[in-house]
Amino acid sequence: MKALITAGGHGTRLRPITHTQNKHLIPIANKPMLEYAIEYVRDSGVSEVGIIIKGHGLDSHLQKIIGDGDRFGVKITYIEQLVPGGLAQCVQLAEDFIAGDEFIFYLGDNIIVGGISKFVEEFRTRKSNCHLVLARVPDPERFGVPEISGEKIIGIEEKPENPKSDFAVTGIYIYDSSIFEAVKSIEPSARGELEISDAHQWLLDSGKNVSFSEITGWWKDTGKPHDLLEANRLMLDSIQSDIRGNVDKLSRIEGRVQIGNGTTIVNSIIRGPVVIGENVTLKNVYIGPFTAISDDCILENSEVEFSILMKKCTVRDMNILLESSLLGFEAEILKSEKMPKTQRFMVGDQSRIELA
Ligand code: TTP
Repeated sequence: MKALITAGGHGTRLRPITHTQNKHLIPIANKPMLEYAIEYVRDSGVSEVGIIIKGHGLDSHLQKIIGDGDRFGVKITYIEQLVPGGLAQCVQLAEDFIAGDEFIFYLGDNIIVGGISKFVEEFRTRKSNCHLVLARVPDPERFGVPEISGEKIIGIEEKPENPKSDFAVTGIYIYDSSIFEAVKSIEPSARGELEISDAHQWLLDSGKNVSFSEITGWWKDTGKPHDLLEANRLMLDSIQSDIRGNVDKLSRIEGRVQIGNGTTIVNSIIRGPVVIGENVTLKNVYIGPFTAISDDCILENSEVEFSILMKKCTVRDMNILLESSLLGFEAEILKSEKMPKTQRFMVGDQSRIELA
């Protein structure tokens, strides 16, 4: 079995962060989102992984960060998609790489707790042509939605106005090679994309065995900013303490906190779960639960909780609590004299905010 992971797409819902970087590199608990996907498929027994990236060399940065797979114990092949033309197009592009094997198709912006091995086992036990992983959601109209009768899926619609169930088809699919005939047989949808839901419907119409499992644990499609903060919260919830930097005697570390090498903490309170990267400077700050601070950030005289700070951010002299915030690479937030009491930030890479 092989795996195909998506890391292309538009990323419109995560603008402005995605104007300058691929959303699959956004850190969740200080680890790029895409690395979770690679680890999940590896842990289910896969050793050859194809990754869909934007064409024209646009994602050379992603290739540099993720590499050839050695450090994960897999072999990675990058597959370029010139223009995002839909998930079924991603599958089409991977036909040579998959070369007749069975494969896991994993959307690289999906985070799940507990891994995916059990779904692979179900696919094998049921001798399926296509195995879909479903999750109950409050807003199925945002997803591909199955119509279910007893133990069987009898239809699938993409983003329906009137969903026929409260299940979403998540971004985890397992296929045999029948899917290639399906993705070649469908037409682009009204939004001009080759929809994977149409390929699934084609499999159903062709009498193929389409089975499903329900995720009972935690799963998130991290398309929107708040989903990223939720995924970050979930991943931080299971960290263990590991303190490597220098923490002075005036500082207090409470709960489970990870602090990387070269980080200095002066006169501060850190209340876990919190992860702080390498070479970070924290001085006179309060860092509250479910915050992830990446390498080389500087925070002084400020309070932050339930937030993600990417590399090289600066937060200085803020006398309000920054919460539910997502700060891009090299973002700066600085104090001015008169400010409101709370603010919520979605800050793109290299932005600078001064509140007046
Ligand atoms: P989506 O979240 O459906 O789309 P998107 O990433 O373009 O984001 P937005 O809707 O905010 O514009 O994509 C799901 C996954 O599939 C994600 O990992 C991106 C990837 N993808 C591709 O690699 N190629 C494509 O053509 C599409 C549509 C998505």
